Amino acid sequence: MRTQVGIVGAGPAGLLLSHLLYRAGIASVVVEARSRHYVEERIRAGVLEQGTVDLLNEADVGERMRREGLVHHGIELRFGGRNHRIDFAGLTGYGVTVYGQHEVVRDLIARRLADGGDIRFEASEVAVHELESARPKIRFRHEGEAQELECDFIAGCDGFHGVCRPSIPADRLKTFDRIYPFAWLGILAQAAPSQDELIYANHADGFALYSMRSPEITRLYLQCRPDEDLAEWSDDRIWAALHKRLGDRTDGWRLNEGPILQKSVTPMRSFVTEPMRFGRMFLAGDAAHIVPPTGAKGMNLAVSDVRVLAAAFDGFYRHGDEAGLDGYSDTCLARIWRMQRFSWWMTSMLHRFEDKGDFDQRVQLAELDYVTSSRAAAESLAENYVGLMRR
Ligand code: FAD
Ligand code: DHB
Repeated sequence: MRTQVGIVGAGPAGLLLSHLLYRAGIASVVVEARSRHYVEERIRAGVLEQGTVDLLNEADVGERMRREGLVHHGIELRFGGRNHRIDFAGLTGYGVTVYGQHEVVRDLIARRLADGGDIRFEASEVAVHELESARPKIRFRHEGEAQELECDFIAGCDGFHGVCRPSIPADRLKTFDRIYPFAWLGILAQAAPSQDELIYANHADGFALYSMRSPEITRLYLQCRPDEDLAEWSDDRIWAALHKRLGDRTDGWRLNEGPILQKSVTPMRSFVTEPMRFGRMFLAGDAAHIVPPTGAKGMNLAVSDVRVLAAAFDGFYRHGDEAGLDGYSDTCLARIWRMQRFSWWMTSMLHRFEDKGDFDQRVQLAELDYVTSSRAAAESLAENYVGLMRR
C-alpha cells in the first residue's frame, strides 16, 4: 500500500489531521490499535477552546457540536469557604465550549468514513520504519494479514503510550518530565448538572472539579493517590467526598447525585519532547507532550499541533515549500510551553501537596486570593483558559 501521509492513531489528533488533509487534497491512511467502538466510548477531555471550536467549524465538522455543545462564559473557583466566579466573557470577550472528546472523535470518524477515508481499526504489531529515508513505512497486521504502508511522511498521533516516539533514537530527542504525587479519580454520573458552569475547588482534603457532558450527565473529579484502588471507592464514599470538597452551600446550591456510569483513575504528569520531528516523521498531540488535566489543555494542544501540521503539508504538496515542515516543531513548542506553564500553575494552585507544609498552603491560598481579587490576575487566568494565544 502507498499513501502520502501515514497516520498512526485515531484519537482527536490523527482523525482531525486525516480530515484536514483530505480537504487539502492530500491522501492519508489512519492505523489504529483499538476498535472503533473503543475509541468512540473513551471518556476523556471535555472543554474546547474557542480556537478549537473555530477550527472544527471551518473544517465543516462542527454541526453537532454547535447543536449539542454547551457554551460557558466563566468558571467558579471555590476555596476557604469562598466562591468566586472568573468571568471569561467580561475579561476576554471569549468563552469555552463543553463537548466531550469522544463526541469530537465520533463526528470525525463518521465524516472520514462518509468521505471514503481509510481508517484501519484493530491493527496490531504496529511499527514505523526507515524514518530518515524518503519512503518511511508503517508495518502492521490487520484482519490477519501483514501489511506495509509506504508513505511520503508519517504522523505519529498515537498518544503517550504509542510506538512512534519510542522509535526515535534516544540521543535525537530531549524530554522534559514532571510527575505529580497525585491523580484524578473521575466519574461520569447520570445526574442533571447542578449549575451551568464548572467549579474548581481547592479543599483541605484535596482538589475537586465539577463539570458536565450534557443536560443529563455530570462529570466529576476528585484528587486521589496515584496508586488509588478504585475498589476502595464505593459510590457513597465518592459522593460524600464530592459534597464535602465542592461545598454544598447554605444558599441552596447542592450537587445533584445519580447513578455512576463510569469510574477511572488518571495519573498526572507534565511531559514535553523536543523536537517533534525525526526525519520524515512528525509527532502531534499526546505522542509529543502531556499536560496535567487541570486547565483542560490536552486535547486543545493536540488540535493546535494538527492545525500547524496540516498547513505545513499543504505548503509542501501545493508549492513544494518545506518551510512549514521545517518550522513545525518550533511553532508548536512555543504554544506547548505556554500551556505547560498554565497547566502546571493551575495544578499547583488547586491541589493538596502532601509533601509540602503549611507555608506552601498559605501561598496557595494567597494565589487564589490574588486571582479572585485582581483584574489583571483574573484576566491572565481567563485568557489562558479560553486559549487566546494569537497575541
Ligand atoms: P489520544 O487521544 O491518546 O489518541 C491516540 C490514539 O492512538 C488512540 O486512539 C490509541 O488507541 C492509538 N494508539 C496508541 N498506540 C498505538 C499503536 N501502537 N498503534 C496504533 N494506534 C495506537 N485532557 C483534558 O483536557 N481533560 C481531561 O479530563 C482529560 N482526561 C484524560 C484522561 C485520560 C485517561 C487520558 C489518557 C488523557 C486525558 N486527557 C484529558 C488528555 C486528552 O484526552 C488528550 O490530550 C487527548 O486525547 C490527546 O489526543 P491525541 O489524539 O494526541 O491522543
Ligand atoms: C474537564 C476536564 C478538565 O481537565 C478540566 O479542567 C475541565 C473539565 C471535563 O472532563 O469536563
